[in-house]
Amino acid sequence: MDKFVVRGGNPLLGTIKVSGAKNSALPCMAAAILTADEVILENIPQVRDIETERKLLSSMGAEVELGYGRAQHRTSIKCAVLSDPVAKYEIVKTMRASSLVLGPLIARTGIARVAMPGGCAIGGRPIDLHIKGLEQMGAKITQEHGYLEARAPENTTRLRGAHLVFDKITVTGTEDLLMAAVLADGESLMENCAREPEVTDLAALLIAMGAKIEGAGTSTIKVQGVTSLHGARYRINPDRIEAGTFLLAGAISGGDLNVDSCDPTHLGALLAKLQECGVRCDVGKESIRVRSEGNIKAADISTEEYPGFPTDMQAQYMALATQAEGTSIITENIFENRFMHVQELIRMGANIRVDGRTATVRGKTPLQSAAVMCSDLRASASLVLAALVADGETILDRVYHIDRGYERIEEKLRGVGAQIRRLGDVFGKK
Ligand code: EPU
Repeated sequence: MDKFVVRGGNPLLGTIKVSGAKNSALPCMAAAILTADEVILENIPQVRDIETERKLLSSMGAEVELGYGRAQHRTSIKCAVLSDPVAKYEIVKTMRASSLVLGPLIARTGIARVAMPGGCAIGGRPIDLHIKGLEQMGAKITQEHGYLEARAPENTTRLRGAHLVFDKITVTGTEDLLMAAVLADGESLMENCAREPEVTDLAALLIAMGAKIEGAGTSTIKVQGVTSLHGARYRINPDRIEAGTFLLAGAISGGDLNVDSCDPTHLGALLAKLQECGVRCDVGKESIRVRSEGNIKAADISTEEYPGFPTDMQAQYMALATQAEGTSIITENIFENRFMHVQELIRMGANIRVDGRTATVRGKTPLQSAAVMCSDLRASASLVLAALVADGETILDRVYHIDRGYERIEEKLRGVGAQIRRLGDVFGKK
């Protein structure tokens, strides 16, 4: 398994570029199932989850081509024939977002078999709201041997439009049902939808494919079902979580960093918090310059659905909080167990106490290098940030977690002055 070796102490200086959003690219790739034509996606990040999704689609019979050379961030997907509309456990177990194919598969073929995702390091990852919505659209869903089988109503391959009200806001649930609704018979009204920019990205692709959707990005989405969709070419938006991670890297290292090719309008909650912490952010149209001299002030955060403070930034923010003067109260409201990074940060010298969904971080504590273990994607990013300011050489194990969602993060950080290198496994195992 690969490791990162990070020597702390260097301020990050210069320009770092943000890739396309993983959490937009995943549903957009699944949306290609909805048509027999070719769907071309640009600005696809080269991360492990995208490779997993490529395998998933290929295993169902899709032709998926990844670009190379100058076109390396382009992917073309053609689902002319879906010979095996099954999401197998071997693939689903490594990526919960695989359940995103449920809606498009049943919408396109009238039948879907998808392995139930298990729990993961950040808590249970139920898909009951996806199932409930599909049932309201007429799908018959059964469960056996760890698989869900969904079938369109009898005598038709088409779902029917429905009035769906989500009990709880769910990002991939909104995306899954949106993809089911675009090919359903009649109108669907979806309420209490996720308003994340990734939902808006997916809706924009679907509209380019011929779908009739109004209100994506608000909590009420209206869909007029159509009988078929066509191919499209679409550019994925920048990754707001990668951008946010780099902003915090600039701030924690006491650097002067220009985070380029991002969309600042998607980063409102984080930018407001950085301002409260005394970190200077100059916002351009597609870039943000972050500057800090290390005099960071403590500020509380509470994770919320978009446009609130993102749960996907909580771990990285906690690393910053260890370097802030004063006490920061960090409340995680979205996932039940998203504090896996805390023990590792404590091993590096942080003063953090967890009580249920709240972590109290007392700063500022000097951090020391240590051998630490990555447990999930964002927890790993938090450890990289901590290592950037730790005294000595930190070794991060199991960086495959970070490779799931950050494109060559060590190269990008090295380009702005970080001392970070990857140690490959001599046996070549991941
Ligand atoms: N939930 C249910 N039932 C459902 C679906 C969700 O109870 O049917 C609950 C979840 O247990 C959780 C809450 O609803 O407590 C919100 O979960 P959501 O469904 O919104 O999460 P997700 O769609 O599975 C996406 C991102 C996550 C991100 C969350 C929250 C993708 C592929 N994943 O997950 O990203 O943390 O939304 O914003 O879009 C990451 O990138 O590191 C990551 C985990």
